[in-house]
Amino acid sequence: MVAKPVMKPNEPTTGVFSSVRTLECPKIKLPTALTLNTRIKMDGLDLLGMLDDNTIPAAFFDPQFRGVYDKMKYGNEHTSRNHVRVKLPQMSEEVISKFAKEIGRALIPSGHLFLWMDKFHLCTDFRNWINGTPLSVVDMLTWDKGKMGLGYRTRHQTEFCVILQKEPRRAKGVWTIRNIPDVWREKIKKTHPHNKPVQLQAKLIEATTAENDLVVDPAAGSFSVFEACRQMGRNFLGCDIAVYDGAAE
Ligand SMILES: C[S@@+](CC[C@H](N)C(=O)[O-])C[C@H]1O[C@@H](n2cnc3c(N)ncnc32)[C@H](O)[C@@H]1O
Repeated sequence: MVAKPVMKPNEPTTGVFSSVRTLECPKIKLPTALTLNTRIKMDGLDLLGMLDDNTIPAAFFDPQFRGVYDKMKYGNEHTSRNHVRVKLPQMSEEVISKFAKEIGRALIPSGHLFLWMDKFHLCTDFRNWINGTPLSVVDMLTWDKGKMGLGYRTRHQTEFCVILQKEPRRAKGVWTIRNIPDVWREKIKKTHPHNKPVQLQAKLIEATTAENDLVVDPAAGSFSVFEACRQMGRNFLGCDIAVYDGAAE
């Protein structure tokens, strides 16, 4: 099934800042192995492999990279808190690129990928992840956690959500909320070593999808995107290879 961006007739689409969504999604037929709005335990690459080309309006991807530990060699991996973090299944750069490629294939034209990363990947090699995909960077958000973490020089208080769009790149008719600040402060309750902010993700979902649209997260961790979908009345399809069952900190 090939989705084409569809302009709805008779809708005011003038102005660069129009908040009318004109992009429509095709009807999606999922294989029986995939159930919507539930926490699936499976490899995210297997889940993505079951999706047709050009069918998904928005996806989130928060890779499990060793990032800060590899780059900084803090040597504190054995503290109880970090031990849990390091024990989560890790993704190699090659695996992360495969996820990006599969998401790029499954997104509808002009669909969005919200890609979470730390400052090391942001400033160095994250572009390798999207080489050879139809995705390009259109924006970026800084999440201020309101709480200091580690750091030899400065202390980490932020994470980054790089916003990528599948060709053709455009905001008009696709992105409907224009007042999301690009620095977002949200304190969260930790239930997983890598929870992401539900309210921010809900805003991004609201901005880039319509009611009942499908949002995908193939490495869902605490399933924060599932919660965001629930709040916004969107359908969620997502999985994690491991079920995390401990309090993070
Ligand atoms: C950074 S966490 C995601 C956190 C999530 N965004 C949240 O808000 O809680 C990455 C997750 O990827 C999972 N993971 C690692 N390899 C995977 C794979 N091949 N398929 C699916 N999940 C995987 C890990 O178990 C971990 O829970």
